[in-house]
Amino acid sequence: MMSSDRSEPQTPRLGQPGCPSGFVGRALGWVMARDNDPMNALAVEVLAPAPGDRVLEVGFGPGRGLERLAAAVPEGRVDGVDHSALMVADARRRNRRAVEAGRVCPRQASVHTLPYEDACFDGAMAVNNHQFWPAPVAALRELARVLRPGAPLVVAIRARSPEGRLRYDGIAYDEAAQAALRAQLVDAGFEWQTEVRRALPKVFAAALVARRPRTAAEAESGR
Ligand SMILES: C[S@@+](CC[C@H](N)C(=O)[O-])C[C@H]1O[C@@H](n2cnc3c(N)ncnc32)[C@H](O)[C@@H]1O
Repeated sequence: MMSSDRSEPQTPRLGQPGCPSGFVGRALGWVMARDNDPMNALAVEVLAPAPGDRVLEVGFGPGRGLERLAAAVPEGRVDGVDHSALMVADARRRNRRAVEAGRVCPRQASVHTLPYEDACFDGAMAVNNHQFWPAPVAALRELARVLRPGAPLVVAIRARSPEGRLRYDGIAYDEAAQAALRAQLVDAGFEWQTEVRRALPKVFAAALVARRPRTAAEAESGR
């Protein structure tokens, strides 16, 4: 089992994108559902879950990533956490049938205190929210805790486009921020795998892929 500090660190000022609420948060949820969905599609494609997998999304916002994950695991289950009560309600509404069927389970929680047992997920993804985590390495350790040995984590971010002219370039990760994220993944105990970069409408996206390694005991027991 991997150890993880599950305390909730001090939250920096998040603003609406980091924790949507009220009327402005509702409008922002609508914009995110429209503009960020190509990034959700990329993250699900790169995660490539098997039809029966149990998968997790952190920071699902309006819930379109949950919707895409549910389509990718028709015989599996999708769990998700977001710390915004408004986004949980939005995501539940958007995925109403799948929620009622128990196939999609959005909950209000922080990435720092995931309400799941150890090693219960076959894969996880986080799209456009790593930048809000108050203690990223601790958050990534917590994600490693709930992943099965060998399971992948996809962290999708906005990267600067080569031409620097896309709509979201102003708030995109530069090369130093991307290198810092790769280092955080390794510090948290993940095995670095690969990175997929793609020009999408309005955004140049990077999906970073790492794997929760097997411990020596797990490798020995063949898990
Ligand atoms: C910019 S939105 C992105 C939403 C969605 N993934 C997308 O790309 O459209 C960031 C989301 O992450 C959530 N979030 C930020 N920090 C979080 C944390 N520490 N734990 C759980 N959710 C968090 C916010 O509430 C918000 O819904």
